[in-house]
Amino acid sequence: MAAELSPIDKAKFVAAKRAVDFVQTGMKVGLGTGSTAAWMVRCLGERVREEGLRIVGVPTSMRTAELARQVGIPVVSLDEAKWLDLTIDGADEFDTNLALIKGGGAALLQEKIVATASDQMIVIADAAKEVVQLGGFPLPVEIIPFGWQTTKALIEEVLVSMDVMGRDVTVRMNGAAPLVTDEANYLVDLHLKRIANPRQLAMVLNQIPGVVENGLFIDICDIVIIGHGDGRVTVRDINAGSEHDDRIEFAPSANIFADLGD
Ligand code: A5P
Repeated sequence: MAAELSPIDKAKFVAAKRAVDFVQTGMKVGLGTGSTAAWMVRCLGERVREEGLRIVGVPTSMRTAELARQVGIPVVSLDEAKWLDLTIDGADEFDTNLALIKGGGAALLQEKIVATASDQMIVIADAAKEVVQLGGFPLPVEIIPFGWQTTKALIEEVLVSMDVMGRDVTVRMNGAAPLVTDEANYLVDLHLKRIANPRQLAMVLNQIPGVVENGLFIDICDIVIIGHGDGRVTVRDINAGSEHDDRIEFAPSANIFADLGD
């Protein structure tokens, strides 16, 4: 089965596998959303079932909640957990400061709330997600449905004075209708190509009435674990200023592969 995985899926798997080593018994763990995070939930479920690891998970989307339950991770809400030891999640892009673009999987709002309510955030990603400057991946912004076209126009207006390379704004669709997030909002994607000042842009966007949250995660991520298709993982810790490589034995058990939802 492992031989059928593409190098990119192997990279995602080894990053996820390495990340769950950071989870210890008794922890409250934020569970991210997306294809890389789905590997992590499966690997964590394996530790719960096989090692008797005692944790609770706080999912960042309905689909992660469903997967976590399937693999045997006890799930609680953020309000029940109140504060988390660790969140592990994927990202669409990360830069050298570990600033992120997230929300490609439409879950940025819960992901940002959960990561912010955690002592530590670990991002797991394949090497292609690393960029010199954020913005190649369209920046998702969650907006409320009421007056959404006005909110979109206001976003376009503020982009005129921002140092970005592109300014197209599109609403994320699900067939013929706007996609609806788990929080019953819409998403617009900002095709900026290059964001010179992510911190300023994040602040400006969040001041627009109708904007709920943007997909820039700044000063939230502590560690990035970069997976490579050959089984290598690079662990970069922004607080310690350290980086080292490990190797993950690529021998996932068969039930890790059953019905990945993402
Ligand atoms: C979900 O909303 C996103 O923030 C994901 O974490 C991000 O899109 C990464 O997803 P993949 O792991 O599927 O690339």
